Amino acid sequence: MSVVRLEHLTKVFAGGTKAVDDLSLMIGDGEFLVLVGPSGCGKSTVLRMIAGLEEVSSGDVLIDGENVTNWAPKERDIAMVFQNYALYPHMTVRDNMGFALRLRHTDKAELRKNVNATAELLGLGELLDRRPAALSGGQRQRVAMGRAMVRRPRVFLLDEPLSNLDAKLRVSMRAELARLHQRYEVTTVYVTHDQVEAMTLGDRIAVLDKGRLQQVGSPDELYQAPANKFVAGFMGSPSMNFATVQLRGDEDRTTVMLAGRELEVPDAIRRHPALVRYLGSIVVMGLRPASFAVATQPVAGTLPVVPLGVESLGDEKHVLFRLPANGADAAAPGDVPVAVDDVAATELWTAKVGQRAQLAIGRPVPLTVDLSTAYFFDPDTGEAVPAGERAVLAS
Ligand SMILES: Nc1ncnc2c1ncn2[C@@H]1O[C@H](COP(=O)(O)OP(=O)(O)OP(=O)(O)O)[C@@H](O)[C@H]1O
Ligand SMILES: [Mg+2]
Repeated sequence: MSVVRLEHLTKVFAGGTKAVDDLSLMIGDGEFLVLVGPSGCGKSTVLRMIAGLEEVSSGDVLIDGENVTNWAPKERDIAMVFQNYALYPHMTVRDNMGFALRLRHTDKAELRKNVNATAELLGLGELLDRRPAALSGGQRQRVAMGRAMVRRPRVFLLDEPLSNLDAKLRVSMRAELARLHQRYEVTTVYVTHDQVEAMTLGDRIAVLDKGRLQQVGSPDELYQAPANKFVAGFMGSPSMNFATVQLRGDEDRTTVMLAGRELEVPDAIRRHPALVRYLGSIVVMGLRPASFAVATQPVAGTLPVVPLGVESLGDEKHVLFRLPANGADAAAPGDVPVAVDDVAATELWTAKVGQRAQLAIGRPVPLTVDLSTAYFFDPDTGEAVPAGERAVLAS
């Protein structure tokens, strides 16, 4: 039974870096909340403040309604697995796992029981007498988790616990973590910079950028209805593509100029009622890679695209391209293809197409764009132009 509440939490480091900026967030009893954001956005600092390892500049940390902001770490009954965890190399798995309990002078029989039960849960039962050097990366990871879990903490904090593992092991540990949490139901905050990990693990996800909370919601909410351009670009892989476009027409027929072509945005205003305000002016349009498809012919409404890169992922292909210049025909003679490295990341678009598409770098290909799946953002604030209720439910 533990609810964690962060109220206006702020951390300014001695050098003046504002690592966490007015963060208010509630983590429910037994909830698995994922805190995600790019490197340096303040994730570890938030965890360290919850654990009491970092002094708070202002704001409060409450656990079960009690203000613990000035409590010492050991009084908070929180266990944390650090980003760069280290096991004691000279100790066996059993001793590593029992370490925190021994420090607290826990009864020997009790300690043994807890360590054995946790080891069993983590599939470490057979390995209790080994030293870390004789374990695989994944097994060491589980020992580090087990070491934190034996204490039966009120709150479990995990700082990128899977980052040292190879991709395959990460996926299986991810599934294991989800299973463990279901059984254990300890209130958990899990930090990662990997949005795929966030999407697959979290009941809810909190997105952080430059120390500021951008949005909190279920994986689906963040993906379907991102609150702003940052969240839209961060969640989803490959990332959403953005273009600054002029919105034309009226409520019945709305078009945008994309690469010099006038394209209709079906039901734009019905789906995003607030778009009315932007008619006749500039707006940022976001298109996910899956909004494209390869056309059989370059007809009106298709974008002539010169692939700068083609990535085959087995069951799909990613086409990297730069939006053609206004009105330019990509197939025009004399058009010199550029390399992916020569294009600024923000100008590089990605389309996700079927694996059977015949694609080659430098060979023009017409792409259709499904503008009914477009997102819109205010060009100044980056705030999403909200979708109507019906549109969100239908999508
Ligand atoms: N002790 C410190 N003194 C000064 N600045 C610090 C200190 N610790 C962290 N910072 C700064 O605070 C910001 C947030 O750091 P933090 O470690 O919380 O980021 P993070 O989101 O965990 O990043 P990563 O994903 O790389 O682990 C960064 O700009 C970092 O340089
Ligand atoms: Mg960190």
